[in-house]
Amino acid sequence: MIGNSLEAGHSYHHLGSAGRNVFYWLTRIKLPKIIIIILILLCIVPLFTHYYLLKVETDLSNMDIHQTRSRLEGFHDFTSMRAADLKARIEEMLRIKQSVSNELRDLEAKRRKLHADVNSLTQQIDELKQELLHQQMDLDRLKISVVQAQAAQREAVERNTPELAPPKRILSNFTPDMLPAHLNSQLCRMFNCFDHSRCALTSGFPVYLYDPEEFSVVNEDWDIDGFLKTYIKHTLRYNSHLTFDPAEACIYIVLIGEALAISHKTGDSGTALDIKKLQMLPYWGGDGRNHVLLNLARRDLSTNSGNLFNGIDTGRAIIIQSTFLRQHFRENFDLIVPPILGPPGGDVWPECAHMLPARRKFLLSFQGEMRALKSSTNHQIVDDAELDIDRVSLDENNLDNFIIQHLKDMSNGITLDKFFIQFECIPTSEEKKVNEVLDWSLCGTDSSRKAILKESTFALILAPSNASFLSTASIQARLYESLRSGAIPVILGGDSIALSFKEVIAWRRAVIFLPKARVTEMHFLLRAVPDNDLLAMRRQGRLIWDRYFGTAQSVVDTIIAVLRDRLGIPPLPASQSPSPSIFNSSFVPLRSDTIAAESEAEESLGPLEPPYPSPAFRRNYTIMLVQGYEMWNDWIDPFKLYPQLPFDTILPSDAKFLGSEVGFRPIGKGAGGAGKEFSESLGGNYQREQFTIVMLTYEREQVLINSLARLYGLPYLNKVIVVWNSPKPPMEDLRWPDIGVPIHVIKAKRNSLNNRFLPFDAIETEAVLSVDDDAHLRHDEIMFGFRVWREHRDRVVGFPGRFHAWDQNNHNAWNYNSNYSCELSMVLTGAAFIHKHYTYLYSHWLPQAIRDKVDEYMNCEDIAMNFLIAHITRKPPVKVTSRWTFRCPGCPVSLSEDDTHFQERHKCINFFSQVFGYMPLLNTQYRADSILFKTRIPHDKQKCFKFI
Ligand SMILES: *[C@@H]1O[C@H](CO)[C@@H](O)[C@H](O)[C@H]1NC(C)=O
Ligand SMILES: *[C@@H]1O[C@H](CO)[C@@H](O)[C@H](O)[C@H]1NC(C)=O
Ligand SMILES: *[C@@H]1O[C@H](CO)[C@@H](O)[C@H](O)[C@H]1NC(C)=O
Ligand SMILES: *[C@@H]1O[C@H](CO)[C@@H](O)[C@H](O)[C@H]1NC(C)=O
Repeated sequence: MIGNSLEAGHSYHHLGSAGRNVFYWLTRIKLPKIIIIILILLCIVPLFTHYYLLKVETDLSNMDIHQTRSRLEGFHDFTSMRAADLKARIEEMLRIKQSVSNELRDLEAKRRKLHADVNSLTQQIDELKQELLHQQMDLDRLKISVVQAQAAQREAVERNTPELAPPKRILSNFTPDMLPAHLNSQLCRMFNCFDHSRCALTSGFPVYLYDPEEFSVVNEDWDIDGFLKTYIKHTLRYNSHLTFDPAEACIYIVLIGEALAISHKTGDSGTALDIKKLQMLPYWGGDGRNHVLLNLARRDLSTNSGNLFNGIDTGRAIIIQSTFLRQHFRENFDLIVPPILGPPGGDVWPECAHMLPARRKFLLSFQGEMRALKSSTNHQIVDDAELDIDRVSLDENNLDNFIIQHLKDMSNGITLDKFFIQFECIPTSEEKKVNEVLDWSLCGTDSSRKAILKESTFALILAPSNASFLSTASIQARLYESLRSGAIPVILGGDSIALSFKEVIAWRRAVIFLPKARVTEMHFLLRAVPDNDLLAMRRQGRLIWDRYFGTAQSVVDTIIAVLRDRLGIPPLPASQSPSPSIFNSSFVPLRSDTIAAESEAEESLGPLEPPYPSPAFRRNYTIMLVQGYEMWNDWIDPFKLYPQLPFDTILPSDAKFLGSEVGFRPIGKGAGGAGKEFSESLGGNYQREQFTIVMLTYEREQVLINSLARLYGLPYLNKVIVVWNSPKPPMEDLRWPDIGVPIHVIKAKRNSLNNRFLPFDAIETEAVLSVDDDAHLRHDEIMFGFRVWREHRDRVVGFPGRFHAWDQNNHNAWNYNSNYSCELSMVLTGAAFIHKHYTYLYSHWLPQAIRDKVDEYMNCEDIAMNFLIAHITRKPPVKVTSRWTFRCPGCPVSLSEDDTHFQERHKCINFFSQVFGYMPLLNTQYRADSILFKTRIPHDKQKCFKFI
């Protein structure tokens, strides 16, 4: 961030530049006594001499005058006689005076020279002392570096676990064999119907899609919805599991989609699916092993699609659709999915309602109608004129009748709560399709329902009257709509139905399930939900909707991910951004000869080690087991495998002494200790590691070079990455400092602040220190920040604090604030540690609108990162040490520029909270200082850090 004068703050303690002043050292340093005595003598002797000589001179001249006077008294007698004598005497006296003053001048010169000598010697002594100090420091560092290196070597030698080769991929024949024993397909489960040999753990889960144009499996007078055909094909292409080689595929997807009759021929066959065509698919292999029949509903929410496979032997194929009869659904084999209601892809946040206030106008809303179609075998598109529906009146014993009556009474009863309950729809032209099964259909248009749902705290969903249904498309559609609008779904009859992707999604965190019999207690229960839980549920619902429901792409990706997850196959690795160097291969950048003018070696901060990248991809097969629920329901992404996560599990502290010691560097070998031992080892709860500095720069070469030079000798630094945002390459004669670690200068594609958070493949550590090119951080501050980050790996840990303040004048708005304050909610990434994982999320998960806003203003990327991390962790950032802000040396900022900068940041905060649907930032009231900071300790002990 460009600094600005309003943000001026503390400059940290100025450390005395000792040694240049003699008197400083005279008082500070115990020089040998002799030198002091000599010095004293040298100073004092000339003074005495001077005084003495002056005195003699005066005496002589006094005497002279006296004599002259007495002689003058007898002048008349002696005038002629004495004159010559007197003159001679005077001349002699003058001569003496002359020689004495010459001597005096010589002495003075000698004194001066000696004085200068003493000065220069003292200076030399000082310099040597400094040098000694540095050498001692370097020696100490080298010593601990050697110790560290030995430890690393010992570990390398002791690591006797051989690198296991991944198992050979199980390649079965091109066409699977026909299995002789024909199973009743209703008994199919993964263990007896699925061919695992096609899906090796290391295979990456290749998925083959039968082209729906080429391999149609529906009857001739039927056609698959064109939307689905193109879009599903398209979205699957974006899925990295898709393969075009059927021989290597683990599963084969057959797109059935929403089959529509294309002619008015009365097809009394009753089914769209052509079993013969299905069995003739080239890789069907006789029984449809590893085949997935994808029957996605779209417009026709409550069609017969549930019956599409009725009476058809689908063999061993897995069926995926929204409508299932209870007896047809094969647990953990078939899959219930939502209908495709969203756009193909892209940002969907504008569809969503803001999550606040917690309580909306209506406590509960419902819009629906119980319907049944007269002729249950008619699959034709029904013309408006022929709209042939029965509003079913239920018999008096029916539970649904009781429910309807109770809900009507409730909404008309004496209560302050408002309800929006509608049991009869006003027919609209949009409703062409009607329900064959006895079920609650949706009333009104999508937008009219949305308007009501946005004003509803809870949305009622009624399970179908016919309890044979485990799931219907209209239930899944209601769920979709409620989650989108932030109305918490309340499912009456929730114990009789199943929701989409229930294998992986923890639905009870977002939905209230009630047996129908609890209808009388429902109002009481809804009143009893406090605001914090209400908002937690709403947020969880939004998260599920965003990730798994919002677009066709997300539904298709989720389907593939659930099947993969079921098989225990890890996702494909998340793609990183390439890090092309700004220098071509033939160009060798010049090196600076002077090494780090400004030495930071005032205290030993840690060993200088060879580069040590953080171990990557160690939990490929366990993360889905140990943290599977978090992966699907908390953190962002079950679709990708990340090299490391900020949420990785932690070992108990005795493990590092009892068997799992590899990589640990306990302080004092586990015995603990104060500053000296502390500076020698990393300690903490995690294995040794290093960090990478990422610095964004734009046409400020000298500022950059100075910042780089200051990094010389920084312990635990793995690499420095400079993101060169300017289209102009660096000057060829620019001299790059040698700082002991590689400096990788990346050529950015374009000038964007979002480049700061690209997941560059050159970043090989989990810890990333993001710094502005002009930020001046001391080494001890960086070291302390790193150590604090190691304990808060999921958070922003850094130096400049800021906060979001409620705008008193303009309610419903936030202001960005950088004033001194005892509460903060952001730590600017101009100087902060973050986990590399968040760079993936920033670049690939964050809605595009946010990155666009950053580009539009050339500002706010740091705010966006704080939003992202606070949203995922629901935790505030961690501020370390006393620095509130940074001076920005050499960047003049005009007041007006400063004002626009702030105005933009106000706007960013408000826009971002609009996109997230709530304000994710959280406040914190404390900061981290080292443990012995300001503690009185015995003289033989060192503090953890001298100054922090
Ligand atoms: C429920 O639906 C199934 C399938 O459509 C049907 O066979 C059954 O008769 C229905 N039951 C009731 C009580 O309507
Ligand atoms: C490499 O870069 C240098 C300096 O930018 C330039 O002078 C030289 O022509 C380049 N060489 C090639 C092969 O592009
Ligand atoms: C884990 O997965 C990554 C990415 O696919 C791969 O590079 C790595 O070798 C795997 N590690 C193990 C131990 O299988
Ligand atoms: C600091 O606070 C004052 C009022 O106390 C306010 O006018 C000013 O805008 C604030 N500065 C910033 C940068 O927010």
